[in-house]
Amino acid sequence: MSNGNDNRRMVKIFDTTLRDGEQAPGCSMNLQEKLEVARRLEKLGVDIMEAGFPASSPGDLEAVKAIAGIVKDSTVAGLCRCLEKDIDAGRAALAHAANPRLHIFLATSPIHMEYKLKMTADQVLAQALAMVKYAKKFCSDVEFSAEDAFRSDPDFVCKVFGAAIKAGATTVNFPDTVGYAMPGEFGDRIRYVKEHTPGIEQVDLSVHCHNDLGLAVANSLAAIANGADQAECTVNGIGERAGNASLEEIVMSLRVRRDFVGADTRIDSTQIYSASRLVTQVTGVKVQPNKAIVGENAFAHEAGIHQHGVLANRATYEIMTPESVGISRNQMVLGKHSGRHAFEDRLKDLGFTVDAETLDAVFAEFKLLADKKKVVSDRDIEALVMDTASAVPETWKLDHWAVNTGSALGATGTIRLQFRDGKFSKEVSMGDGPIDSIFKAINQIVGKKPELELYEIGAITGGSSSQGETMVKIGWENRHYNGHGVSTDVVESSIKAYLSAINAMEWELSAASHVEGVNSNEK
Ligand code: KIV
Ligand code: ZN
Repeated sequence: MSNGNDNRRMVKIFDTTLRDGEQAPGCSMNLQEKLEVARRLEKLGVDIMEAGFPASSPGDLEAVKAIAGIVKDSTVAGLCRCLEKDIDAGRAALAHAANPRLHIFLATSPIHMEYKLKMTADQVLAQALAMVKYAKKFCSDVEFSAEDAFRSDPDFVCKVFGAAIKAGATTVNFPDTVGYAMPGEFGDRIRYVKEHTPGIEQVDLSVHCHNDLGLAVANSLAAIANGADQAECTVNGIGERAGNASLEEIVMSLRVRRDFVGADTRIDSTQIYSASRLVTQVTGVKVQPNKAIVGENAFAHEAGIHQHGVLANRATYEIMTPESVGISRNQMVLGKHSGRHAFEDRLKDLGFTVDAETLDAVFAEFKLLADKKKVVSDRDIEALVMDTASAVPETWKLDHWAVNTGSALGATGTIRLQFRDGKFSKEVSMGDGPIDSIFKAINQIVGKKPELELYEIGAITGGSSSQGETMVKIGWENRHYNGHGVSTDVVESSIKAYLSAINAMEWELSAASHVEGVNSNEK
C-alpha cells in the first residue's frame, strides 16, 4: 500500500460490485465468479464489500453466505429492504461472516414515497426506525440508506438519519440514486446533512452516487471534500443504468490529488488493474479504451510530441505511473523457455491465486501456446487462466470440431462433445457462416436453443499469431450466462466461449434443482 502521509483522513471504500454492479443488465455472475471477485476485492483492500441482496432470491442468499464464509479482512454487507423478512434473510446469509453488516434501505423522496412505497413521510420515518432497531438486535454494524436521498427534502433526510442513528445505525448513507446531482450542490448537501443530523458525529456518513450525468465520481469527491466518511462504488463503475461511481477513479483521484482533497483510502492501488480485468472477464462487459485508470489507452502516448516528452521525463504527460495501478511496464517476457516458477510468479503479479492442480493445467496450456507464439503476453496469460481454471464444472467438454465453409456454399459445422458421464455425442449442422453452423450443432447436442445475446471476438495482442479472444452472452429462461474462450484459432475460441456459457447455464440449472431461483436479480 502506498498511502503516503498517514495523518491524512481515511475514507472507507464500500464496494458494491457484487450487488449494485451485478444487478445491472448483462453483469450477472455465477457463484464461482462472485467468489473469485470477492477474493480480489479483499486483496484490493476494500473496507466493506456488499455481497448481494439475500432476500431477492435463495441463490443470492447462498452467494452472500458463501462470500461471508471466505472473506476475513473486509466487512461483508448484505442489502435488505426495510422489512423483517429481508433482515432475517440478511442475518441468515451473514451468520458466519467475520465482520457482518446489515445494510437496510428505504426511500425518502416524495416521488418514491408516493408512487413506489405508497407511504406517508411519517410512515417512512416510523418504518426506518423500527427496522434499524430490529436489525440492531442481530448485528452491531447496521447501515441505513435513504434511497433517492438527493431528491428528498434535506430536513426530512436529516430527521430520518437522526432517528436511524438513535436506533443504532452505525453508518447512514446518502444516495444520489438517479444520478441527478451536480458536484457543487452535492458537496453542499453533504455538509448540510453533517451540520443538521443529530448524532452524525458518532457514525459514518456515506455517499452512493449513480452516473446518469457522468458525475458520479465528481459528486463522490465533492462529498468527501465536505466530510463524507465512506464512498460506495464499483469496479469499472458497473451498475444500474449508467453505472455507479468507479472505485478506481475515486481511489486514484484521492491518491494523486492528496494535496487538494486531503483524504485517502486503504486500497492497495497496485491491485486495481487486475481487479478491473477480472470484473471485465467475468461479466463480459468491457471498459471503453479511453476509460480513466483502467482503459486500454489510459497510459498510451500516441502523439510524437507526447512520446518525446514522456521519454525525457514521464511526468510531462503522466500524472500517475501505470505501476501504481498494477500495470507493469518492464516485465520479463515469457516464452517457451520460461519455467514454472517464473510463470507462477507472473500469475501472482497478475493477481491470481491458483491451487496446484489449476497451476499444472494452466502451465500446460501456456507451454502449448508458447510453442505457437514467440512471446506470451500478460493478456494471453490472463485469458488462459480464465479459460483453463473455468469457474464452473464442464457439463459438456469439447472433443473435436470441423467446419467446411466458402463463399459459394453455406457453412457446415461438425462437433463432438463429451458429456459429464463420459459419453460422446456428435452432430452436424448447416448454418449462415462457420460460427452459426457450429453453434447450431452444439445446440442440437445440448437439446436447448439459447438466445445468443452477445458475440464479440478480438485479438488479445497485435500480430497474426495473436490469440483470438471471444466473449459470448446467452439468454435462457430470463437468465443470462457469460462465456469466454481463447485460442489461436478464432472458430475454436468461439466454440470454447459458447461452451463455457452453456456450461454456466447447465451448472446453474442443476444447482437450481437444489436451490430454487439461483442468482435471480429480481429486486
Ligand atoms: O442507488 C441506491 O439508492 C441504492 C441503495 C439501495 C443504496 O443502490
Ligand atoms: Zn445504487
